[in-house]
Amino acid sequence: MKDIRIDFSMALPFADKAALEGVKAQALKAQESLWDLGAEADVKGWLDPMPQGAAYQAMMEKAKEIRENADAFVLVGVGGSNQAARAVIKALQRPGTPEVFYAGNTLSAPALRRVLTGLDGKKEIYINVIAKNFETLEPGSHFRVLREYLVRRYGREDIAKRVVLTGTFGSRLEEIAKENGFTFLEFPVPVGGRYSVLTPVGLFPMAVAGIDLPALLAGAERMKAMLLENTDNAAVCYAALRQHLYKGKGFDTEVLAAFEPQLDYFAKWWVQLFGESEGKGKQGIFPTAVSCSEDLHSLGQYMQDGRRSLTETFISVEEPDGSVVVSPDPGFGDRFDYLDGVDFVDINHAAETATVKAHYEGGVPCFRVVLPKLDEYYFGQLFYFFMVACAISGKTAGINPFDQEGVEAYKRTMFRMLGK
Ligand code: PA5
Repeated sequence: MKDIRIDFSMALPFADKAALEGVKAQALKAQESLWDLGAEADVKGWLDPMPQGAAYQAMMEKAKEIRENADAFVLVGVGGSNQAARAVIKALQRPGTPEVFYAGNTLSAPALRRVLTGLDGKKEIYINVIAKNFETLEPGSHFRVLREYLVRRYGREDIAKRVVLTGTFGSRLEEIAKENGFTFLEFPVPVGGRYSVLTPVGLFPMAVAGIDLPALLAGAERMKAMLLENTDNAAVCYAALRQHLYKGKGFDTEVLAAFEPQLDYFAKWWVQLFGESEGKGKQGIFPTAVSCSEDLHSLGQYMQDGRRSLTETFISVEEPDGSVVVSPDPGFGDRFDYLDGVDFVDINHAAETATVKAHYEGGVPCFRVVLPKLDEYYFGQLFYFFMVACAISGKTAGINPFDQEGVEAYKRTMFRMLGK
C-alpha cells in the first residue's frame, strides 16, 4: 500500500544550504527529545494512539448504539475538543448515520438557536460533551442549554442513555457522569486538546458517524513506524525547513492549500494545531489556509503577487473519490468545448499543478503533501505526521508546543465581565 509523501523540491531552492543544515541539527535533537518518553511524559500521551482494548470496545459499543438509534448527534466541544472529529466527519461521514450538529464551539445565540431548531425536527437525539478541564465557557454553557432541552423532550429519567461525557478522570465532568448515569469516556491527562485526535475525544464522534476507526488508527501507526524507522525523516525535514525559511529568510506565514473542499475542516484543525502550538513569545509562523480553487479568486491574487512572506503547503489528493465527465454540447456555443469528455478530476489536477508552478515561480516556497486517496487510512497518516512535525518544529524554535497560556488573557476579562 502506498504512503503519503512530502515533496520538498519546490521549497528547498529558497533555503540557504549551510544554514538549513544547522537548523536541521536542532530539529534532530528536538525529535530525539520528543521520542524520549522519560521526559515530558505528562504532555506526550498522544504519541501512542488509543489501543484497541477493552475501553476501545466499550466506546465502540456505545457508538454503535447511537449510530443505530439516533437521527441526531450533537458534538459539544471547542478547539482541540472538536476540530479533529469534525474534520473527518465533514470529509467522510457515511450515509445512513445520524446527522451531526456542532455546539459548544461558539457563543453566538443565533448559532445555538439554529442547532436547537434543527433538533426540534429530530426524534432521537444523543449528545457528546467533550471538555478536558470542564471550565471552558462554550461547551459548559451549551451543555446547560442542551441538558435542559433533552429533559424537556424526553424527561429526566430518559436522558441518561443520551448523554456521553468525555473528560479527565477525577474531573467534575466525571462526577457528573456518575451522579447522573451518563456514559463517561476518558480524555487522557497527558494529551492536549489539539493532539487528541487518536483518543476517545476524536475517535468516539467519528465512530458515531460511521468512520472506519481501525483504518484510521492503522494509518497513524504506519506513520509512527515510518517516522521511527528513519531519523532523517519527512517530519524533521518539514520542521527544519519551515523554521529556516521563517527565521533565516523572513517567510513568516504558512498557507495550507487544498483543492478538495472535503479538506476544509482538516485545514481548520491544522491551523489550530500550529497556531496554538507555535505562536508564543512574540514569535511564530502565522498559519492560515485556503480552499481552492475558490480562494484563488480572492487570496490567490495576494499569494501570487503580494508581499513575499508566504510559504504554501499543498495537500494533494492523487485519486479523489468521485468523477464527473463533461458532456459535449455541440452547437450550443458556450466556448467551453475544450472541456468535452474531460473529467473534473483532471480539470482540478490541472488547476492545482498550474497553481503550484505559478506560486513557486512567483517566489513562494511550496511544500506538497501527496495523499494517494482521501480515506481514513491516509487521514490517520496525515494527523500523525502533522502532530509530530508540529511538536518538532515548536521545539526547534525553542518554545513549548504543548501549552497555550496566551488563550487565557481574554478569558480573565471576559470572566470578570460575566461575574465568574
Ligand atoms: O488544544 C487545546 O488544548 C485547546 O484548544 C483546547 O482543546 C480547547 O481550549 C478546549 O479545552 P477544553 O476541552 O478543556 O474545553
